[in-house]
Amino acid sequence: MSGEERKDGCTVRFSPDGVATDVARGVTVLEACRSAGIAIDAVCGGTGKCGRCKVRPKGSFDPGDTSTLTADERDSGIVLACEATVTGDLEVEVLPRSRIRQHQILVRTLEAPVTRLSPWLKKVLLELPKATLYDNTADFERVQRALGDRDLEMPIITLRNMSRVVREGDWTVTATVADLEGRGEITRLESGDKCGCLLGLAVDIGTTTVVGQLIDLLTGNVVASASEYNRQISRGEDVIARMMYSEEGGGRELTSLARETVNSVISKLLDDVSRGRESPVTTHDLVGASIAGNTIMTHFFVGVDTRFIRLEPYVPVAHHMPPRSGYDLGLDIHPSSEVLLFPSRAGYLGGDVVADVLASGMHRGDDITMLIDVGTNGEIVLGCDEWLVSCACSAGPAFEGGEVSCGMRAMHGAMDRIRVNDDLTSSYHVIGDEPPNGICGSGLIDLVAEMYEHGVIDRKARIQALPTDRVRRTDEGVEFVVERRDRLGNGATTDLVVTDADLQNVLRTKAAIFGAATVLLKKMDEDLDDLDSLVIAGGFGNHLDIDRAVSIGMFPDIPREKYRFIGNGALEGARLALLSDDMRNDMVEIFEEMTYIELSVDNDFYDEFSSSLFIPHTDLEKFPSFREKKLPEGAE
Ligand code: FES
Repeated sequence: MSGEERKDGCTVRFSPDGVATDVARGVTVLEACRSAGIAIDAVCGGTGKCGRCKVRPKGSFDPGDTSTLTADERDSGIVLACEATVTGDLEVEVLPRSRIRQHQILVRTLEAPVTRLSPWLKKVLLELPKATLYDNTADFERVQRALGDRDLEMPIITLRNMSRVVREGDWTVTATVADLEGRGEITRLESGDKCGCLLGLAVDIGTTTVVGQLIDLLTGNVVASASEYNRQISRGEDVIARMMYSEEGGGRELTSLARETVNSVISKLLDDVSRGRESPVTTHDLVGASIAGNTIMTHFFVGVDTRFIRLEPYVPVAHHMPPRSGYDLGLDIHPSSEVLLFPSRAGYLGGDVVADVLASGMHRGDDITMLIDVGTNGEIVLGCDEWLVSCACSAGPAFEGGEVSCGMRAMHGAMDRIRVNDDLTSSYHVIGDEPPNGICGSGLIDLVAEMYEHGVIDRKARIQALPTDRVRRTDEGVEFVVERRDRLGNGATTDLVVTDADLQNVLRTKAAIFGAATVLLKKMDEDLDDLDSLVIAGGFGNHLDIDRAVSIGMFPDIPREKYRFIGNGALEGARLALLSDDMRNDMVEIFEEMTYIELSVDNDFYDEFSSSLFIPHTDLEKFPSFREKKLPEGAE
């Protein structure tokens, strides 16, 4: 194209995907990725801080700030997608480590049987007396009369089709009656006898992933499960980045992205359950939904402001969002269906944790139980049937792939298990059995434990100057080589390393979790020995080696048989609430009874956190199975 004919838009083509998009001149390569639907890792939401969005463009572009990249990376043409701007047509290679790939999403739950099924929905078969000149009562009142309840309401959407539905069934109809929080209404009316099918939806809206289950409300069985990445990820990986994006005018977009993700999960569930059926299950067959999410995800999903959750004193718009219709929430379920949203205890302790507690059953017995859910935030609940205390610690994203140079989430290509050999080379397992791109949370815990065990780091997690080429000093500090670039494949330009700075981030994260757990025990005058049970909830526990987590001082050193994993507790809690009024009552009780302790103003937390900044802790009495490691000869 000649200079005079320069087009305004630029074509950006991605390799090896072969996908192209037209964008305006001057947009960032990250925006071009989003426009082309390329899922790229952008932990910091495009603020240039995380250094994860690495691409190699060829063509017309301005590289922007590349100061966070290594000299090797710069020499090989790598730039940050959020810093580089498009100035003409481009061919862009997204580096393997910067791609969001198949994630290990935790769909597994306890699926505990519910002894007394009592969903808030039921189907009733009605044989209506035909209208005649002697009985010309209106259709709606006729249905109310048949149901024996003149207070039942009917949403306008159901009312609109009523006359047709009643006559198509020759005055035999199936009414779906809902009674949630005392608001009785006829959600749906179908012609003929349709009592054999009553379906509901349970959803966990996580910051990273959204998981759903289709539940048969007549049997309590899970009939399909599906999951997807939360599409908000491209607007920032953690909740803080997304709240900031919202404050800059992106709130509506985040609401749409959350709802789009849930709808995509619903579509997968319906496809799955309809396979092989003569008449497919449709969105209208889903007549109720129960949703658990953290406070920020719930706010985005409903479409309310998150600004004051981010700022001190971290106040949400509402703890308890009243039930909404599927239509109000833009969900692809029956428009009149009611959607139960789990209540949030605090800005950083949401309905997902209330659901975790419900699923764990810790509120029902006199055993003293601690529940830990580790994500970007660590949420901890301590209690029994008489009391519950909770807190959230800003654990940092180290175990979710953030703030660690080789960190990544638990997705294909992540080392999730690592052993350091005597010659300081590493043996490892990679999710998806493919060449490694980085290390996920469980791998990092293994690595720190193993490095300590082999004397590569001291109790403050500082790398020792050992006489080996696995430890080396760079301009940025000291680093340990986990794997060499020539063994990584994937066109890696650098070795896979952990640095002193990475290890300090891991140390801070584990210290925050253990410090928070200790504070809760202290507040209730309990001791580690008093714990009857320790419940690990969430996807993190999926890959975790408890012994390793204890050996670095992240989790308490109590008998391992006291540890219990409940999988995706938020999803399980949502399912239980859908199926049982006892569970819905428990949900309200947990929410009302649970005391929340704000750690950011708690002096005990600061002390406990500082004491936990050692492997495993300054007070070795707390870790009886710990053996102090003698550093090898030559270590400094
Ligand atoms: S540095 Fe580009 S998204 Fe974080």
